[in-house]
Amino acid sequence: MPSISPAVVERLAEYAAQWTGFAPGAIRREQIRRGAERLLGQGATPEQLLARAGAADPEIVGHFCDTISVGETYFFRNPEQFRFVAEEVVPALLRSRPPAIRCWSAGCATGEEAYSLAAAVLGALPPSNAPAVEVLGTDLLARNVEAARRARYEAWSIRPSAGPLPPSLLEPEGGGAFRTAPEIRAHTSFRRHNLLGPPPSTRAFDVVFCRNVLVYLSPSAAEAVCANLTAALAPGGVLVVGAIELDRPPPGTEPAGPPELGAFRLAAARPNVPARAEAAASGSPVVDAARHPVGVTRPAPVRPPGTALAVAEPVAVHLKAIDLIERGLRQAASGILAELCRTAPDYLPGLLEQALLWTHAGQPRRAADRMREILERTADLPAETPVVGPEKLPLAYYRASAEAYLRHGRPAPSPGGDFGPREAAGKGRP
Ligand SMILES: C[S@@+](CC[C@H](N)C(=O)[O-])C[C@H]1O[C@@H](n2cnc3c(N)ncnc32)[C@H](O)[C@@H]1O
Repeated sequence: MPSISPAVVERLAEYAAQWTGFAPGAIRREQIRRGAERLLGQGATPEQLLARAGAADPEIVGHFCDTISVGETYFFRNPEQFRFVAEEVVPALLRSRPPAIRCWSAGCATGEEAYSLAAAVLGALPPSNAPAVEVLGTDLLARNVEAARRARYEAWSIRPSAGPLPPSLLEPEGGGAFRTAPEIRAHTSFRRHNLLGPPPSTRAFDVVFCRNVLVYLSPSAAEAVCANLTAALAPGGVLVVGAIELDRPPPGTEPAGPPELGAFRLAAARPNVPARAEAAASGSPVVDAARHPVGVTRPAPVRPPGTALAVAEPVAVHLKAIDLIERGLRQAASGILAELCRTAPDYLPGLLEQALLWTHAGQPRRAADRMREILERTADLPAETPVVGPEKLPLAYYRASAEAYLRHGRPAPSPGGDFGPREAAGKGRP
C-alpha cells in the first residue's frame, strides 16, 4: 500500500473542513490518515484520492465526513431544554391555535434528539383539538439518518443525566435494546442535509434544535449555519443551541430564558425579511430563506477550566484537551479533563483520558480511582455498546482498559495496538 504523507493528510483535512464547516482543530489528522489508508488499501493512490477529493466525489466526501464526524447523543440530553419547550414554547404556540407545530432537529446524529423533541411536544398538548406535530431530524451522514429511521437504540442512548424519560418514548425490544414507540415515530421523519446549505424545508419551523454542532465549526461556518437556522424559523419561533455555543443571540433573535438555556426567539415579525415572515405565517412556501442576512454570531470558545461547563459538548472539550496534550501542555489539559469529568461523568472517554494523564504524571492512585469509576458506571451495560468519543469504540474497550490497568498497572491495548484513547486516537502523542 502506498504511504500517505503528512502533506496529503493536511490537504484532505482542508477538504473535510470545507465540506463540513469544521474548524481545523476539530479534525483529528490521525483519523484523516486512517480514513485515507482505508481507501489506499482498496487500491487507490494518494494522487487519485486528492483528485477525487478536489472534484468533491460524493463517495470520498461521504467517507471523510463519516471519518471525522462526532455523533455523541442520547435521549433528553440537557433535559431543561426539553422542559422549556414543553412548559413555555408549546403553551405559547397553542394560544395562537396553529394547525401544526413544526420542529427541526438539525444535526440530529442518530435521532435521539428528534424523538425526544417529538415526545416533549406531544406530551405538552391538550387531549383534544391538538395541532398536528411534525418533527424533522436531519444530519450530514447517511448512516446516521438510516440509524435514526431504524429507531433502535442500546442502553448507552439512555443516560442518568437525562433524568426519567417519558414512559411513552421507548418500547423494549429484547436483548437490552429499545425502539422508539410507534406513536412518536409517526410524527418524526429524517433526511440527509448539510447545515451549510439552505434549510431542508420551504415551510418554516416553530422550534429548531441545533445542539452540539456549532461547537465543532469554524467561526465563519458557524455564522453561516446560524443564518440558515434562523432563516428557517417561523415568526416568534425558537432556536435552541448548546448553552456555550453562542456568545450572543443570532441577528433578529433575543434570548428566550436565561443565557445558559441557549434558547433564542425570533421576533414575531421581522422587518428585514418581511416576505419570508408573511409567507411562513400564511403557511406558504418560504421564499429565498437561504439569503437571510448572515449575522456576526460566533461559537463561544470552549470555556477555560473552572467555569461552568454544564452543557458543553464532551467530545469537543475532549478534543481541546487532546490538542493541549499534543502540544505538551499537560497541566492545562488536566484542568480541562477534570472539569469534563465533573460535568459529564457519563462520558467514558474523558474518564479514561484523565486516568491516562494521571498515569503519565506518576499519580497511579488517582488513575486507579478513575478506572474503578469506569467499571462502576458500565457495570450493567452491554459490552458491545458503541461509545462515542474522538473515536467510536465499544464499551468493552473502556472496561478492558480499566480492568487491565487495575490488574497490571497499564491499560489494555487499543484496537490499533496502542494504549488508551489518546494513543488510539492520535499515535505519537506523548
Ligand atoms: C455531537 S452530534 C450532536 C447530536 C445532537 N444534536 C445532540 O446534541 O445530542 C453532532 C452531529 O452534527 C452532525 N453534523 C456535523 N456537521 C454537520 C453539518 N455541516 N451539517 C449537518 N450535520 C452536521 C454530525 O454528523 C453529528 O451527527
